[in-house]
Amino acid sequence: MDGKKKDQTKKVAVIPGDGIGKEVIPEAVKVIEASTVPVDLTYFDWGADRYLADKTTVPTDGFATLSREFDAILVGAFGDPRVPSNIHAKEILLGMRFKMDLYANVRPVRLLDASLCPLKGVEPKDLDFVVIRENTEGVYVDSGGIFKQGTTDEVAVQEDINTRKGVERVIRFAFEYCSHNKKADGTARKRLLMCDKSNAMTYAGGLWQRVFKEVGAAYPQIKCEHMYVGALCTQMVRDPRQFDVIVTNNMFGDIITDLAAGLQGGLGMAASGNIHPGKTSMFEPVHGSAPPLAGKNVANPMGAILTSAMMLAHLGFADAAGKIEAAVLEAVRQKKTTQDVGGSLGTNEVGDWVVQHLRKA
Ligand SMILES: NC(=O)c1ccc[n+]([C@@H]2O[C@H](COP(=O)([O-])OP(=O)(O)OC[C@H]3O[C@@H](n4cnc5c(N)ncnc54)[C@H](O)[C@@H]3O)[C@@H](O)[C@H]2O)c1
Repeated sequence: MDGKKKDQTKKVAVIPGDGIGKEVIPEAVKVIEASTVPVDLTYFDWGADRYLADKTTVPTDGFATLSREFDAILVGAFGDPRVPSNIHAKEILLGMRFKMDLYANVRPVRLLDASLCPLKGVEPKDLDFVVIRENTEGVYVDSGGIFKQGTTDEVAVQEDINTRKGVERVIRFAFEYCSHNKKADGTARKRLLMCDKSNAMTYAGGLWQRVFKEVGAAYPQIKCEHMYVGALCTQMVRDPRQFDVIVTNNMFGDIITDLAAGLQGGLGMAASGNIHPGKTSMFEPVHGSAPPLAGKNVANPMGAILTSAMMLAHLGFADAAGKIEAAVLEAVRQKKTTQDVGGSLGTNEVGDWVVQHLRKA
């Protein structure tokens, strides 16, 4: 009996990071603990404080340890004005995504209450789509160079890396996601839209176009759609009802999900997972460390709490995840929220309310 229980226990690495990451992650952890799922948490101090103290960004063997010993990683945010280059953030966050090969960044966009959406007449049923962002390539590889720096002839080159393997696996992931996931109302996801800028970026866009067509042939039940990124931004504001699942490259995914976060109530409401099927995956709220908010108990913890629900669902605790989402929905309905989404509670109090609601339920 003991042995079985041990096998079911999932090991989670918790890295709160910097700024408001250190405030929202404790609320997410409270909620995980209130869910009474068999999860064993281990904390890591990676972030600006550690970097400033001993110049460590990621300890030797750090990523290998995470991959080898943990089922999932829960992260807050990285970025601190005391580290002007934010070298630590780049090495930790992009390091995790690149070196652990977490190639699919899944960002659900769901409106929990009409009052959170800045658009007129948009109801929760109208806004329930998912963006799948390629997470290991593109301009984030930071390949390029500067020539004649500091002169009037300066040249800066930033290369956009798109490999056949990278494009194909994220597109296949998106078709699989579409095939196996439903909307919040229980209806099937049926459409996958590929977003690019192939009219101007013909080489990279051409590869995405060809691969989308090829991979899509194996999924006749999924309707394939396409939009240029500019048109998609316009449509996301004019009629976000039309979207189901979107797959796109690293940079466009970053930008359109910030826009999408605005539709669901702001960055404080948005959750994400960095996934490599079958490997240790990492979950983080979409927002950054928001230094001006840090230490004031005002940061919205809902993005982090919804992220913990995503992580639990990924670990096989779909029931607990559903209950957390329902509790967040109720908190939003009752305005038991922070000021950025219309409430008057502090970060801590929002977490406490969600925990109490879960215990009553
Ligand atoms: N994944 C990450 O770790 C990540 C992501 C983005 C930015 N960053 C870093 O974070 C730092 C700040 O960057 P930024 O200001 O561009 O982005 P940010 O997400 O920290 O903040 C953007 C805006 O959203 C608001 N906001 C963000 N999260 C909120 C929350 N939970 N509750 C209420 N309001 C919230 C902030 O007050 C700010 O107005 C920088 O160092 C940046 O590099 C890290």
